[in-house]
Amino acid sequence: MNILVTGGAGYIGSHTVRELINRNHRVVVLDNLSKGHRAAVKGVELIEGETADRDLLKKLFAKYDVEAVMHFAASSLVGESVRQPSGYYRNNVVNGLSLLDAIVESSVRYLVFSSTAAVYGEPREVPIPEEHPAVPTNPYGATKLALEGAMRWYEDAYGLRYASLRYFNAAGADPAGDIGEDHEPETHLIPLVLKTALGLMPCLEIFGSDYPTPDGTCVRDYIHVNDLADAHILALEAMAAGAPSKVYNLGNGSGYSVLDVVRAAEYVVGRPVKVSYAERRQGDPAVLVAGSDKIKGELNWRPRFAGLRDIIETAWLWHRGHPGGFRD
Ligand code: UFG
Repeated sequence: MNILVTGGAGYIGSHTVRELINRNHRVVVLDNLSKGHRAAVKGVELIEGETADRDLLKKLFAKYDVEAVMHFAASSLVGESVRQPSGYYRNNVVNGLSLLDAIVESSVRYLVFSSTAAVYGEPREVPIPEEHPAVPTNPYGATKLALEGAMRWYEDAYGLRYASLRYFNAAGADPAGDIGEDHEPETHLIPLVLKTALGLMPCLEIFGSDYPTPDGTCVRDYIHVNDLADAHILALEAMAAGAPSKVYNLGNGSGYSVLDVVRAAEYVVGRPVKVSYAERRQGDPAVLVAGSDKIKGELNWRPRFAGLRDIIETAWLWHRGHPGGFRD
């Protein structure tokens, strides 16, 4: 299939592009490089531009005979979204709608959308099924939920066919070791633990030790980025084979606390990681664990990296080889 990947120079986008190429799809990447890295796009064309640029999108759809879009380009930090909701609504909702409009006015047939566990807010049950009420506790989750809502109505009115994938905590790196997670500033737990192990940071701050969890630190469901990539391709191929629009959770179904992650990382790197305790971070739910039975049952998706240590090992390979990220 001919596929346009927005945000294909970013962390999850670049890993998905690689899997798409491995499966013989033809890919073109659209990225404004505000967060993404030119060096993360290997072996396909990178168009530097905005998702909001309708004329550019139309030209690209026609030039590459695009049949499907995978939309990764978005702002994605919970804490930042709480401080700057305006930028999140503009980038994720306004620019997202602009992309939906361009898609329904073109011959593009399918959309795979990066959604998030943050749409659920504070869970009432764990693992969280897709039917769980969606009551986001931060603007990031609210903006992703807003676009999911638009997609549903666009389907009814304009026949948009989509799969929305609600990721839990994306982690790890391609085992080839040449692409991985590189955010500026970095806010995610696993890269920060590994940067601390490399001596690039004096110590890891643990945000909150009084959560209602077994050790008092937040519990998350870490899912390998290549397993996310797999799920995107399965969802797209299912639509192409006639499946209707769907919303799926993506996680391993196991919860690990911040301290579990630190211990697993210490095992992988073979040395202790210095930690200190800090206040809770605003907008963080105590526990997020995915119920992913739906995508397993319907698309036969199976995570290849089910264990936390396996996931961290791939992240370690990337960070050890590229302590300065894509600059190295
Ligand atoms: N944490 C720390 N110290 C740090 C960084 C993180 O203690 O220096 C903690 C956080 O408080 C949280 C856990 O580690 O409890 C994981 O934090 P991340 O920042 O790695 O990930 P989040 O859970 O905040 O965010 C992820 C995705 C979001 C998604 C969210 C769902 O990055 O896109 O899960 O809530 F929205």
